[in-house]
Amino acid sequence: MPQMPKDIVKGGKEALSLKNNDLFVQKGYINGAWVDADNKSTFPVHNKATQTEIGSVPNMGKAETKKAIDSANEAYKEWSQTTGKHRQDLLTKLFNALQENTEDLAKIITVENGKPLAESKGELAYSNGFIEWFAAEATRTYGKTIPAPLPNVRNVTIRQPVGVCALITPWNFPAAMITRKLAPALAAGCTAVIKAPAETPYTSLAITKLAEQVGFPKGVINVITCAKGENEAAVGKELCENSIVRKLSFTGSTRVGKLLMNQCSNSLKKLSFELGGNAPFIVFGDADLDKAVEGALACKFRGAGQTCICANRIFVHDSVYDEFASKLAARVDKFKVGNGLEEGIQLGPLVNEAGRDKVADHVKRSKEAGAEVLVGGKAGEGLFYEPTVLANIPEHAPMDDEETFGPLAALYRFKTEEEVLAKVNASPVGLAGYFYSGDVARCFRVAERLEVGMVGINAAIISQNVVPFGGIKESGFGREGGPGGIDEYMVDKLMVFGV
Ligand code: SIN
Repeated sequence: MPQMPKDIVKGGKEALSLKNNDLFVQKGYINGAWVDADNKSTFPVHNKATQTEIGSVPNMGKAETKKAIDSANEAYKEWSQTTGKHRQDLLTKLFNALQENTEDLAKIITVENGKPLAESKGELAYSNGFIEWFAAEATRTYGKTIPAPLPNVRNVTIRQPVGVCALITPWNFPAAMITRKLAPALAAGCTAVIKAPAETPYTSLAITKLAEQVGFPKGVINVITCAKGENEAAVGKELCENSIVRKLSFTGSTRVGKLLMNQCSNSLKKLSFELGGNAPFIVFGDADLDKAVEGALACKFRGAGQTCICANRIFVHDSVYDEFASKLAARVDKFKVGNGLEEGIQLGPLVNEAGRDKVADHVKRSKEAGAEVLVGGKAGEGLFYEPTVLANIPEHAPMDDEETFGPLAALYRFKTEEEVLAKVNASPVGLAGYFYSGDVARCFRVAERLEVGMVGINAAIISQNVVPFGGIKESGFGREGGPGGIDEYMVDKLMVFGV
């Protein structure tokens, strides 16, 4: 049985012990000032493991968002005229400051998100990598000369920043989802208004504090904090509908992505959407099973299963199904679950009640339809849920229609490559997919046919700062990170010279 925490939910207030207390900021950031909501209202943020209140941040709305947009617009006038070298130097200073404060930042992530400390440090390496990468990219925004078909014409393109950017980020990677958007925006010469996730606002505020300390001018970065519900909807709407904002980058659910896209239509903003997925993880009969088990563990249980690219359905070939299932179950059975600040914890809690209840619902409905519980299958204290392995998933299960976004490994059985590809490609979303096979021809064939934006072939951890991250179909469009990541924040201008 996985080791679950006991008597962990304490209630009351909790002091976050940091070496650099400046990093724990409980205000929004507009036009270079740390500010409250206009009406002074706040909302609490909790430690997800203990459910203790960490502190509170301003519950801002439309009016504060408008001020943040105006401030970004004012700052854009000068920031967009700085040299790429200047922006590179500032981003490099931010990278160094983030690296120096890794211990504290990791603690903040673990406390407000729930992931184990080692994972938080891993996230920071990934996250800081975006700053480092785009610092370098700031000086490489090359234009083109394009030979003209006429003798008296010369064509030149230059690349310019798109303008004020709205960045809406989720709670599952409180640092990386911000830096993946903010770093290319700043490198390109854009200014930004960030809507911090309500569940994990402190990481974004800490990153912004360091950006302020290293010298980013006022108005270049602005952060709005708001509670879920009415204010969150009003902030999102203002970011989408305000015509000063020229670009929206959003990571979140497909449902919300569609809503935001509608709201952006009047001002026709440039958009990047990294939306939900339903990642298949396929183990063929010719796979190295031990490697596939390791891959499935990493891919499924990272962040307690709360990443958009987590394996949602694990398809195993009939010939190796029983062996794979028993190996995977044996490993999950040994998981140590608990407060991520404690040594040796491999899995933390879910981020909120809705997340935990969704896992419970998927387990319940799958069991009712005939699935067998190999490990776990029960809620723990507070926001914890036992890491679970379900076998013999029936023909129709809830995971076919939506992401569990939790620590549930659902094992489907298949007999042919055609059959599994048809089932996987029937999904309306296509973010990431994974498969394990020892057959080179199959590796090419399946990788090409999988309808996803990213494929792991005998590889389960595909996230890196240097690669284009993004999906197809209803998983959205646009690519983040890597070569081309800065393009999302730039526009080409054509200059045709008559000579
Ligand atoms: C996500 O879950 O949206 C991002 C995952 C990643 O970057 O690894």
